Amino acid sequence: MRIVAATHASIREAAQYLAEGGLVVIPTETVYGIAADATQPAAVRRVFEVKGRPNENPLIVHVADVTMLETQVAGVPEWVRPLIDRFMPGPLTVVLPKAPEVPDIVTGGLPTVAVRMPQHPVALSVISALERPLAVPSANRFMHVSPTKAEHIDSLIGEAVAMVLDGGPCSIGVESTVVDATSFPPKVLRPGGVSRGMIQEVLGTPLGEMPPGGERRSPGMYSRHYAPRAKLLLVKQIPPGAVGFGFEVEPGPSTVRMPRDPVAYAASLYDVLHRLDQAGVAVILAETPPETPAWEAVHDRLRKASEPSA
Ligand code: TXA
Ligand code: MG
Repeated sequence: MRIVAATHASIREAAQYLAEGGLVVIPTETVYGIAADATQPAAVRRVFEVKGRPNENPLIVHVADVTMLETQVAGVPEWVRPLIDRFMPGPLTVVLPKAPEVPDIVTGGLPTVAVRMPQHPVALSVISALERPLAVPSANRFMHVSPTKAEHIDSLIGEAVAMVLDGGPCSIGVESTVVDATSFPPKVLRPGGVSRGMIQEVLGTPLGEMPPGGERRSPGMYSRHYAPRAKLLLVKQIPPGAVGFGFEVEPGPSTVRMPRDPVAYAASLYDVLHRLDQAGVAVILAETPPETPAWEAVHDRLRKASEPSA
């Protein structure tokens, strides 16, 4: 795989590959993503193939500015504007009725589209250089842990893309928060880099609850996801000699002491999973974090990574 430091020249080269229908791995502030020109259905189709991802699981369209965002949706309701002003660019994705020109392959045939404006300067520069939106899922194989460093990228993905732009470690470390904004109040479909509390503060109203079976609103919300190869078990305490990560554990070759701050914890979680998984162990233990709202995204990812395989 060709890993290249992100520079003006390599960003221009990446945009050139994308314009020709090629795929490029790009850094974002959340996780690394595998990018295709969202206006080219054949390129987007290859993203699904390379990831081994089912076609009905839609992709997030990444834009560089509000003008580009407005070309992808049927309209922006007035109450959504404050969310855009506050969190874009940033780790928030909003789902809105789609513009007719968004290809069906991007949205999995849904009448809605998920849009996000990444905060990473490299991601923004690539989109600006291409002058078109990008479809960018996380750059992991389906059901595996998302990469937060270039070195995490699976060789199958690395070999299938024209280049991997290396932008260093991702600062947020978990995926964006996906919010269904097709009705008011909006609902969180996937917790992530922007907390529920931050969104509620901007809207001045509590977020709606997902209806029972509402997981189907976000077809990507498979219960098992983000999983390492090893079996991940959530425990109260890591016993001496075990492989795992937690707040109390003594740091060692196969143990990691995690930050007590949920934002710092999220930033290192996937790196810790990738590193411990590298050792090829059968079981990784994770000490259960506090059950408070600030930990919602971390709990979601730990739960999905620990779901036994079907
Ligand atoms: O942080 C992120 O969002 C990363 C980086 C690379 O930007 N991208 C990412 O994409 O996590 P992906 O494809 O791994 O996850 C997209 C999620 C899935 O859960 C999918 O079901 C949901 O967004 N989604 C996409 N379009 C949707 C739609 N129209 N309605 C509901 N959910 C949608
Ligand atoms: Mg993903």
